[in-house]
Amino acid sequence: MIETQSQEIVVTTDPSRLDLDVIHGYLVRSYWARGIPRELVARAMAHSLCFGAFAGDRQVGFARVVTDRATFAYLCDVFVLESHQGRGVGKQLMAAIMAHPDLQGLRRMTLFTRDAHGLYGQFGFRESRFLDRFMEVVRDQPYSAAPAAGAPGAAA
Ligand SMILES: CC(C)(COP(=O)(O)OP(=O)(O)OC[C@H]1O[C@@H](n2cnc3c(N)ncnc32)[C@H](O)[C@@H]1OP(=O)(O)O)[C@@H](O)C(=O)NCCC(=O)NCCS
Repeated sequence: MIETQSQEIVVTTDPSRLDLDVIHGYLVRSYWARGIPRELVARAMAHSLCFGAFAGDRQVGFARVVTDRATFAYLCDVFVLESHQGRGVGKQLMAAIMAHPDLQGLRRMTLFTRDAHGLYGQFGFRESRFLDRFMEVVRDQPYSAAPAAGAPGAAA
């Protein structure tokens, strides 16, 4: 477990501190996991290295890293609650992730983002030079929920 602190925000990997209500509450209305069932979020977290950002007792940010802790990591489910955005919490989460001892010396870290390239670019991420080699299987609308009007990241 690691813990970093700056001003009033603490970032921790302690699974017992993570607040599933907050995490699922955000992800279920996010643009990338809209409608995701609560038990699926819990299962994904149980098999990932998770980072929570806390303002006092309240969880205000989250990031999940799927990794073998040796060669590869996939960063996903990054969010900061609207009430705390734009104050450096996302950068603090990213700094904690990039400094985590189990994520050093990896051959590759990947992520997908619609518009936060400028955030991840500050931590060494670049657009892939290997898109022609990259393949995937994707299920569209896997949780078959209609987009919620006004949801964060909802397409304009
Ligand atoms: C993206 C997000 C995690 C950033 O967290 P934050 O605490 O608001 O961001 P910070 O205050 O730490 O600053 C982020 C920095 O990245 C930059 N940035 C680039 N693209 C950005 C974007 N789409 N959203 C927020 N910041 C962005 C900011 O300008 C800022 O740069 P600066 O260092 O020059 O000030 C947060 O705004 C969020 O949850 N957004 C909605 C969900 C989302 O899009 N998640 C990412 C999915 S890939």
